[in-house]
Order: sequence, then structure tokens, then C-alpha cells
Amino acid sequence: MSSLWIYKVVKVFLFKKVGCLVCWSKVFLLLFCEISVFRKFVYVNLLLYICKKQMIMDFIKNRRTIRNYQQKDIPTELLNQLLEEAFRASTMGNMQLYSVVVTRSTEMKAKLAPSHFNQPMVTKAPVVLTFCADFNRFSKWCEFREAEPGYDNPISFLNAASDTLLVTQNFCTLAEAHGLGICYLGTTIYNPDQIIDTLQLPKLVMPVATITVGYPDEEPVQTDRLPLEGILHEEVYSDYTRGQIDRIYAFKESLPENHRFIAENGKTTLAQVFTDVRYKKADNEFMSNNLKNTLKKQGFDK
Ligand SMILES: Cc1cc2nc3c(=O)[nH]c(=O)nc-3n(C[C@H](O)[C@H](O)[C@H](O)COP(=O)(O)O)c2cc1C
Repeated sequence: MSSLWIYKVVKVFLFKKVGCLVCWSKVFLLLFCEISVFRKFVYVNLLLYICKKQMIMDFIKNRRTIRNYQQKDIPTELLNQLLEEAFRASTMGNMQLYSVVVTRSTEMKAKLAPSHFNQPMVTKAPVVLTFCADFNRFSKWCEFREAEPGYDNPISFLNAASDTLLVTQNFCTLAEAHGLGICYLGTTIYNPDQIIDTLQLPKLVMPVATITVGYPDEEPVQTDRLPLEGILHEEVYSDYTRGQIDRIYAFKESLPENHRFIAENGKTTLAQVFTDVRYKKADNEFMSNNLKNTLKKQGFDK
């Protein structure tokens, strides 16, 4: 048995099920204690509800991005159910300014891959979802109903992009709750014009997020997060002193993998790995220009 499997078994049976076991033992005790059937029913349901809520909270705390997937399809019914539930997210004026393109075919995944710098998840995941900000459908509805749409501007793009990202994250949370693994692909907004061509997106439709989805075939280590106090501001924003910045980033900077990144890239600080290697000014400027041109081409900026 591989160490991954041993880890999985220990995790499922010791960490996840024990919490549930405690709850089930309470349910068992309640069923046999001397209270009315109605009270038993209420208590048991309350306990089960608390147990379920605890499990959901735990899964959010334990989540991680998954980049390796089993060769197993996601049933269409499950995918559609998750998407439909995701569409319950808040939306600007309830206009639902998004569309989702589902890619399952090997041929289409191969066409999409170069737009995502050939990241292997695109061709290896059973499903690739491209979430698009979409004012096309709503504008058409307006035109067909003697109403004049005025959504060919940047603010409308931002509204549609907000709707789209809310739905995207809702989908990711639901998918993970159902045992699927997901990976966001930020490359979507780096090469939007190529994706538009491949997916044949009309004007007023703009890709904003791509998610690869599948059944996990790995259990990666959880990534770090900045401490809560480094992110929260009470009542007003209090700008950071150098000492605070040192404290907030201390844990991240202490991680062995980050020391390795610095050494491998011949840098002296972790921040330099971001500014000089991963997210460079020149690349950002080039891609911003590309993004502006694509927004124009798609009719969101005149
Ligand atoms: C907007 C966005 C873009 C991302 N783009 C990529 C990507 O192109 N490739 C990739 O492997 N992971 C990508 N990720 C995943 C992040 O690397 C990952 O969420 C982050 O390292 C934290 O890890 P965790 O999700 O496991 O906590 C992206 C995440 C977000 C939110």
C-alpha cells in the first residue's frame, strides 16, 4: 500500500469519522434515554445538523488546489447539479451575467492548452470549465423586447466579471464538497483572445476564469496563509509599518520550500521571486495591453 493511501485511510477514519462517531454515539444515547419521541426526533436532527455543519467547516479549512486527476469522468448529471447550485450565487440585479463553456473532448482540450501555456491540467482533467462574463445574452433579450441595452462599457464588464467570479467560486466550493478537486487557471486573462477564438465567443462575452475539475489523484500539502491580523483592519484601514510587514510575512519567508525557490532562482528575497520571476512588470504591462485590446474587440470598451 503506498504512503498516499495509508495517509488517506488514516485521515478518513481517524480525523473525519471520529468527529462523526462522537455525534452518532450521542444520537444513540438520545434514542435510548427516557424522553418523548418528538423530543428525541428534534434532538437527533439538531445533532445531525451540527455534525454536518462541522464537517462542511472542516472541509473548507482543509481544502487545497488539485492538479492531478484520476482518469474517471464526471457524470453530466453531477456536473449540471453542481453548476445549477452554483448559479444560486448573488448576481447584479439578478441578471446572471455569465456563461460557462464545458470542455470534455480531447480535441478541444488540446486546442485550449496553448492558451494556458500548456499547463498539463488542461489536457489531463476530465472537465475544463471556462467561466465567461456575458452581457451578450442579456443585451439580446433587451433588443428583442424593445429595450435599448447600454452595456458596451468597462463598468458593465466589471459587473459581469463580478457575477462570473462569484459563480465560479461557488462552483469550486460545491465541487470540493462533493469530493472533486479543482484548479483555477489565471492564464485565462493572459491569453483571452486565443480562448475567444477557440471557444467562438461572440461580442460582449469575455472569458474570466478557467477551472479544471476531476477526482483527485493526489493529496498535496496545504499551502500557507497570511495571519488573520495581517489582513483585518478595524473600522478604518491602518497602513502597514515595516515591522508589521516583517511579522505578517515571517512564516511564509521561513518555509523551506520558499528558501528553495530563492536559491533555485538565484535571488536574495522571496519577494524578488515574485517581482523578477513569477509576476514580472514587463509581462504585466504586455498582458494588460492585450487585455485592453481584447475588451475593445469584445465590445466592452469603445
Ligand atoms: C486567480 C487564480 C489564478 C490561478 N492560476 C493558476 C494557474 O494558472 N496554474 C496553477 O497551477 N494554479 C493556479 N492557481 C491556483 C493557486 O496557485 C493556488 O490557489 C494557490 O497557490 C494557493 O493554493 P491552495 O489553493 O492549494 O490553497 C490560481 C488561483 C487563482 C485564485
